[in-house]
Amino acid sequence: MRIANILAAGLAVIGATQACETDEDCSLNGVCSRKPTKSFASKPKPGACKCDPGWFGDDCGRLDLAPATPINGYNQTDAVDPLHFGPYGNSSWGGQILQDPQDHKLFHLVASQFADGCGLTGWRPSSYIMRAESRTGPQGPYHYADEVTKSFRHNPSVIWSPTDQKYLLYTIGVDAPKAEKCQSLTYKQWPNNISVSSAHSIKGPWTPHKMILNSLEPQSTNPAPWPLWTRKNPTREIALGVEDNAIFKSDKWDGEYKLIHTQTWNTTEWSPTWTEDTFLWRDKRGNWHALDHWMIDLVEHNGQQWPRVGAHVYARELTGPWHFKQQEAYNSTITFTDGSVRTLRRRERPKIFFSDDGELTPLYLTSGVTEMGQGSRSSTFIQPIGNKWKKYEKKLGFQ
Ligand SMILES: *[C@@H]1O[C@H](CO)[C@@H](O)[C@H](O)[C@H]1NC(C)=O
Ligand SMILES: *[C@@H]1O[C@H](CO)[C@@H](O)[C@H](O)[C@H]1NC(C)=O
Ligand SMILES: *[C@@H]1O[C@H](CO)[C@@H](O)[C@H](O)[C@H]1NC(C)=O
Ligand SMILES: *[C@@H]1O[C@H](CO)[C@@H](O)[C@H](O)[C@H]1NC(C)=O
Ligand SMILES: *[C@@H]1O[C@H](CO)[C@@H](O)[C@H](O)[C@H]1NC(C)=O
Repeated sequence: MRIANILAAGLAVIGATQACETDEDCSLNGVCSRKPTKSFASKPKPGACKCDPGWFGDDCGRLDLAPATPINGYNQTDAVDPLHFGPYGNSSWGGQILQDPQDHKLFHLVASQFADGCGLTGWRPSSYIMRAESRTGPQGPYHYADEVTKSFRHNPSVIWSPTDQKYLLYTIGVDAPKAEKCQSLTYKQWPNNISVSSAHSIKGPWTPHKMILNSLEPQSTNPAPWPLWTRKNPTREIALGVEDNAIFKSDKWDGEYKLIHTQTWNTTEWSPTWTEDTFLWRDKRGNWHALDHWMIDLVEHNGQQWPRVGAHVYARELTGPWHFKQQEAYNSTITFTDGSVRTLRRRERPKIFFSDDGELTPLYLTSGVTEMGQGSRSSTFIQPIGNKWKKYEKKLGFQ
């Protein structure tokens, strides 16, 4: 198995096991429950993983995706505008769901959209950040509400900082002149520098973008922030995961971000990067997790071994050791509520919306997707996870 090449220095790779001895064997997505042994002297018997809601598998390493509603997320690829330069409508590429804090039945999606009908292949420079709204529940469909930034800004990650009482918007990109056509620029022309901006309301106004990481610093693209705040420790500190599982920390959102962890990967023959599009979170037990795009989409390599697009990595401490299993966390084959099954061409930019009951149960997965045969026409897909989302929606009066 060629993926075995990614075995990395300082990285524990655990094979798929039937039984467990530690919670690490359960991907820290559950607990290893062991039957007490009869005699004090006998060797403890291996236990079995008890997975948290939203995860399944012998080792709780797989995201328990539920059937998707046929019309979901933000899919406005058919939007027509005579001023568009390209034919891809309002193509988008993943985003973050946020529940309105006052109006609980209103959901926001802060997403990357490509301006001027340019589509995914023109992501740099045409991407900008927009906000869409849904009054039909967290799964959408979402409709365009307003522009959050101009181009070039991409891959928004929004967190609520309880200590600051502010939303923090992390993006990549730089201020750029208005495009005159659809094109594709390299990062050397327009770097992926990470910036942060803040607002008291999800509807803005947002403060000017403050650049916090220069893209020449180790792998500094695709920000994944998580506030270190807890009830017991109401700190302003922020952890920031970036590409390839490098992790930074800052004592405040607009402070200096210092590198606290890097991971050396033995990369695959397919890509010099191991994973991309990281999404970092701390669970109810205080353990750290990230969901990443595994860089292997179905269309590549003739669809032989894949789809196997989602990777899950986890650790007890931000500084590691991080564990990675050689198995998919999810793939790009989607079952819909009408019983149909469709395999997408690309499924990237994973972001999770969690329950707000202190359990941090994953309820929905957002990703940027393209359909088979499509290169540039892209949309933002939302799929429910496990079954706790049903109760969440019911309580809000949806369904
Ligand atoms: C890294 O990958 C190469 C090429 O597949 C392999 O020969 C080598 O043993 C790997 N190194 C480690 C540390 O896994
Ligand atoms: C997005 O919408 C178009 C129709 O407007 C449809 O053909 C396409 O299948 C949709 N994409 C996804 C991923 O559902
Ligand atoms: C498409 O995006 C533009 C902004 O670029 C917005 O004005 C328009 O309402 C959107 N249309 C649809 C159908 O989403
Ligand atoms: C962005 O990062 C690049 C290096 O990748 C650096 O040269 C440039 O000055 C940064 N841009 C801004 C606006 O700070
Ligand atoms: C994709 O994942 C689902 C479970 O989420 C699984 O049932 C299916 O077999 C997987 N598809 C492939 C091709 O591995």
